[in-house]
Amino acid sequence: MKKTVKIYFVLIILFSLICNFKVLGQNARIKFDTERIVGEVDKNLYGNFVEHLGRCVYGGIYEPGSQLSDPDGFRKDVLEAVKGLNVSLIRYPGGNFVSNYHWLDGVGPKNERVPRMELAWARLETNEFGTNEFVKYCRAAGSEPYLSVNMGTGTIEEAQRWVEYCNVKEGPYYAELRKKHGFPEPYNVKYWSLGNEMDGEWQMGHLNAEDYNKKAMEAAKLMRLTSPDIKLIAAGSSNYRPHADPDFWNRSVITHLKDVVDYIALHMYVGNPDNNYYNFLSTPLVMEERTRIVRGMIEEAMQKADRGNRPPMYIAWDEYNVWYRARTTETMQGTRALEEKYNLEDALVIGGFLNVFIRNADIVKMANMAQLVNVIAPVFAEEKGIFRQTIYFPLEMFAKNMKGKSLDLFVDCPTYNTDEFNIGLGEATTKQTNVPYLDASATYENGEVVICVVNRHKDKPVRTDIICQSGDFIDVLKVSEINASDIKTTNDFGVENVRTVSKPDVKAKGNIVTYEFPAHSLTMIRGRLK
Ligand code: AHR
Repeated sequence: MKKTVKIYFVLIILFSLICNFKVLGQNARIKFDTERIVGEVDKNLYGNFVEHLGRCVYGGIYEPGSQLSDPDGFRKDVLEAVKGLNVSLIRYPGGNFVSNYHWLDGVGPKNERVPRMELAWARLETNEFGTNEFVKYCRAAGSEPYLSVNMGTGTIEEAQRWVEYCNVKEGPYYAELRKKHGFPEPYNVKYWSLGNEMDGEWQMGHLNAEDYNKKAMEAAKLMRLTSPDIKLIAAGSSNYRPHADPDFWNRSVITHLKDVVDYIALHMYVGNPDNNYYNFLSTPLVMEERTRIVRGMIEEAMQKADRGNRPPMYIAWDEYNVWYRARTTETMQGTRALEEKYNLEDALVIGGFLNVFIRNADIVKMANMAQLVNVIAPVFAEEKGIFRQTIYFPLEMFAKNMKGKSLDLFVDCPTYNTDEFNIGLGEATTKQTNVPYLDASATYENGEVVICVVNRHKDKPVRTDIICQSGDFIDVLKVSEINASDIKTTNDFGVENVRTVSKPDVKAKGNIVTYEFPAHSLTMIRGRLK
C-alpha cells in the first residue's frame, strides 16, 4: 500500500475515534407511530398562578400610577409577556394566602376596602386588588379564571357565596351585590379548588384527611347547587416530608370525593441546593412517579364511582416549579418574597416537567406554573421594565407548539444513576436509577409531529435517529433550541442569554431523521408526515 493511502486510512480511523468520543455512544433512538396515542393534550396544561404574595400582584401584574400601566393599573409590559405564554387559565388568590383570605374584603368601592394582616407571607394586604380586578386581568390576558376557596379559616357558606357572586346572573343577595359593584353579567367561573395544601401543617386551618373530606364534600355540594356546571379541584398532598404520608392523604381524598370532584391537585417544587446537576435534572422523573401512583389510585376509585355522565377524575399539577434559593425565613416574607433568579439548568428541569405532562396527557389535564410574575416566576418586573427569565422559554415553547394528541414514544438511549438526594426543601430523600439522558415527548396534529427533547448530558451531544413507524417525513424539519454555553447562565434586564433560537433545518431520509442533541439543551423538532 502506498504511504499516502496508509496515512489516509489512519486519519479516517482517528477521525471516527474522535467523533465517538465527542458524541455519547452509538446513535440513540426515538420511535413513534401516529396511531400510538396517549391522549388529547388539554390546553389547561399551560396554566399559571397568581397569589397575593410578595410582588406577584402589587408591583407585578398590577401597579396603578406606573407610567407602564394601563388605566386599570395593569402593567402593559407584564401583560404582553404573559400573553406570549398563551396562558390558558390562572389560579388565584393562593396558595397559602387563600387560607386566611375572605373574598368579600376584596370587592366593592376601593376606598371602603379594609387592610388585613396577611399571615401566610407576613405582609399587609390592602385588598385593593380582588375578584373583579382579577377577572378583568384574565380577560385582558386571554386566560380563564380559576378560583381557590378558603378551606382553612373560611366556611362552606363563604365559598357558596363567592360562587353566587361570580356565577349567578341575578336575584339573590351576592349576585345583586356584584351588579351593584358595576358588573352586570355573571363571570361564569368554571374552575374552583376546594382549598390549598390542606394536608400541610403550615396551612392556616390545616385539617386531617377525614375532616378535609367532610368539609370539601359539603362545600362542593353547596357550590354545585349554586352553579351546577363548575369543575371542582380537591387538594391532594403536597407534603412529602419524611414524617408525612402523602399516599394515605391522596387515597383518602380520591376515595371519599370520587363521585364529586373533577381533579385532584398535586404540587411539587424542586431545587439544586447541593449543586448536583445530574441529581437535579432527574427530578421530573419523581413527578412522573407521583403521577403514576395517583393514577393508580384514581383508576381503582373510578371502578366504584357514580359520576353520572361526567368524565373520570383527572390530575391537576396546579403548582410546580424550581424553588430553593429564595426559601429562607428572610426571603419568604414581605414585599420581595420568593424572588428566584433562574438559570439554564432550571429551564431544562421545567422542560422535563412539561414532558411529563405531555407523556401523561390522558390523566394530567391541568398544570399551573407557580407563579406568573416576580414570585418564582417566568416574568420579572421592576419599576423600570421587565425581563423574561430562563424558565419562560420552555413554557412558551410548549404552550405554543405542543397541542393535539400526545404520542407514546419509545426512547432508547444511555442512562445514569443519581446519588441519594433531596428533591426539595425538607423532602424525604430519593435515588433515581436508569435516568435516560434524553427526556422526550411528542404531539401530533394536522399531519404535523412536534418532538421536544431535553438532553440531560452535561458535556456530550447525543446523536439520535428519530424514526416514524407510520410513514415518511416530508422534506425538512424545523428545529428550535434553548441552550447556552454554561448551565448556570441567567437572564437579566436587557440580557436574554437563554432563549429559544432557530437552528438550521434538518433533512429526513424517508422515515428517519438523524439529529445530534447538544449537551444540556432543550430542542424542539417539528416535521410534516406523508
Ligand atoms: O407558590 C408558593 C407557595 O407554595 C404556595 O402559596 C403554597 O401553596 C405552596 O406551598
